[in-house]
Amino acid sequence: MRTPLVMGNWKLNGTKESVKALVNALTTPANEAAPKAEVAVCAPAVFIGMVEDLAKDSKLQWGSEDCDIHTSGAYTGENSPVMLKEFGCTYAIVGHSERRDYHKESSEYVAQKYKAAQDNGLIPVLCVGESEAEFDAGKTMDVVREELKAVIDLCGIESFKNAVIAYEPIWAIGTGKTATPEIAQNVHKDIRDFLASFNAEVADGVRILYGGSCNAKTAPELFSQKDIDGGLVGGASLKADDFSAIIKAAVDNA
Ligand code: PGA
Repeated sequence: MRTPLVMGNWKLNGTKESVKALVNALTTPANEAAPKAEVAVCAPAVFIGMVEDLAKDSKLQWGSEDCDIHTSGAYTGENSPVMLKEFGCTYAIVGHSERRDYHKESSEYVAQKYKAAQDNGLIPVLCVGESEAEFDAGKTMDVVREELKAVIDLCGIESFKNAVIAYEPIWAIGTGKTATPEIAQNVHKDIRDFLASFNAEVADGVRILYGGSCNAKTAPELFSQKDIDGGLVGGASLKADDFSAIIKAAVDNA
């Protein structure tokens, strides 16, 4: 039995004022959702300490949008998984398509981030997904398998006992073009089948979130699919009402 997880990915958004208002508004829905669903927000690093202060006595969890492969040292501008853990992060997103694309992060490098997060007590949220051209060419699973395989090669299949996967078709991110529940379910099932070819028990237990224009309207049907265990939500996670409606959809389908 997999507990649904709804995770906000704030990206490069927020002010002190908006973060305070949003976290305060979300702590109640998060408390009400637990234990049927888990709720988390992944914040820009500068806001993580603030989120910790605001959410520490609630059921709302939090995490980072990325993490470095090093724990300390001369790596200007990076955020160490040890530091993120010290500020109460549960999760670290790794391999978001915006990082893979704008920062040229390879699957091997993402796997190192996944390992660094896990080695230091964070749960990595591994993002995978294909571009529009790859989708049109029917290459979705070739891309996704390569992204998963890099992690399996470095960390082993058992590592997915303590990780989350987010399937995010790049063509659906921030575009309003949500994958249909059928398309998403098929890919989620293919991901689970691929992992099952290494270890069926691990494949059955790992949570696979859908991301890409997941919103209050699309979440109920997406979350009703057998292999979709919640969502990684960008734009709609910035508005308390929308995000709360998505949390409700997860609870209703738990
Ligand atoms: P979106 O972003 O919900 O705004 O499409 C999702 C993501 O990139 O994680």
